[in-house]
Amino acid sequence: MSMDAHSAYRLLIDHIRQTALLASTASVLNWDRETYMPPHGGHYRAEQLAYLSGLAHQRATDPKIGEWLTACENSAVTADPISAAAVNVREIRREYDKLIRVPQRLVEETTRTTSLAHQAWADSRSRSSFAIFEPWLDKIVVLKREYADAVGYEQCRYDALLDDYEPGQKTARLTPLFEQLSRELRPVIESAIGASAPDARQCLLGDYPVNGQQRLAREIAAAIGFDFDAGRLDTVVHPFCSRLGPDDVRITTRWDEHDLMVGLFGVLHETGHALYDQGLPQEHWGTPMGEAISLGIHESQSRLWENMVGRSPAFWERFLPIVTATFPKAMTGVSIAAAIRAINEVRPSFIRVEADEATYTMHIVLRFELEQQLIAGKLAVHDLPDAWNSLFEKLLGLSVPDDAHGCLQDVHWSAGLFGYFPTYALGNLYAAQLYHRAERDIPDLESLIRRGEFRPLLEWLKTAVHGHGKRYRADELIQRVTGESLKADYFVAYLRDKYSRLQS
Ligand code: CO
Repeated sequence: MSMDAHSAYRLLIDHIRQTALLASTASVLNWDRETYMPPHGGHYRAEQLAYLSGLAHQRATDPKIGEWLTACENSAVTADPISAAAVNVREIRREYDKLIRVPQRLVEETTRTTSLAHQAWADSRSRSSFAIFEPWLDKIVVLKREYADAVGYEQCRYDALLDDYEPGQKTARLTPLFEQLSRELRPVIESAIGASAPDARQCLLGDYPVNGQQRLAREIAAAIGFDFDAGRLDTVVHPFCSRLGPDDVRITTRWDEHDLMVGLFGVLHETGHALYDQGLPQEHWGTPMGEAISLGIHESQSRLWENMVGRSPAFWERFLPIVTATFPKAMTGVSIAAAIRAINEVRPSFIRVEADEATYTMHIVLRFELEQQLIAGKLAVHDLPDAWNSLFEKLLGLSVPDDAHGCLQDVHWSAGLFGYFPTYALGNLYAAQLYHRAERDIPDLESLIRRGEFRPLLEWLKTAVHGHGKRYRADELIQRVTGESLKADYFVAYLRDKYSRLQS
């Protein structure tokens, strides 16, 4: 008996919207765990989350989904390939096929291994001894290979992992982009280092009481368009942005009493994510049409507001007087020129999350290369520290003092997140290419920013990116909006232009 396609589609959407109720409930519990939960609440919270994720997994692999999808495919429901229904069917199919290909045993073993590996990684990093983490990473690499083989791939095993975070992206396409970046950014970095004053950031260090920072951060987040009636800002150790419901987006940050820029740029970054989340078509909540395209596109929105807007001279002409009025003791006498130089200082360093915009990319190039070698079996886990250190020296010119400042610094691998790092660099590339287009489409964008008028840029981003949900794949979206496929040129040109203007 074949089911009527329209009824099948209605049942499919009801089903996945209910699954979204479960998943978003888990997000509330996660957000609470990171912000306000007392330390002893952890054990029960873990049980709650495991129970909800089990239920969500069961629902997401329900064989009825396969039947409904089959009824919808090649029917009137999906006739127009960019209609909401066709997009939902396409994306639910993609997700469903992946999930059902992975054996339950592999899912459980990965969950168990990564939760134990997290503790081993933390111990390993705090003692700066790779030996503690090594056997766990060995296991995780084996599990990730098994996972890639289970979900399948065409050319390259690593593609299967990339695809989880950046649907449709391929190693063969990223390799030349990343090669170009490491080749062309090298001279840009060298000349920016040569031209920057020693300790340019020093002029911004001082006393910044946290309540003043919070007031200022709220004012700036609201000014660029964050809707506090549909969101909150709270304090955490590791900042993130989480969408808890169609009208509820939570941003978080950490504050440093001596360095204003940690909290401020943290908030700008997370607000960039939040503006995307608040700009998604809320009527499609719970379905792919109401979700972000990929991690890379999400990151492009945070980088665009944090870096292209937030580190620009025009932005600081607007906000420096307000910052100085909020912190007269620390900021009086700091000129625009000094502030701009300080927040755009280029200096190679060991830790990715502390890196400047230019050297940051090198940290990602390194991880992309090593991840591929590990997954392909060309690099043994045992040899990772040596491989890390020698590639780091080649790319950034520094010799790594210990593994805590080297291959143990990031949590990602302990959590099984292979294929995730490239999305950070892609975020920069998408951001630069989109911003270049926005500058052409919005007359005198720089003056608007100087006057604190951010609405035209936000509206442009909503029309170009946010409002489409998952309608287009990342590559298609970039092609559609900018008229070109993704290129590294715009990001390189953006940095080259910025640093040469700072030097003149
Ligand atoms: Co981000």
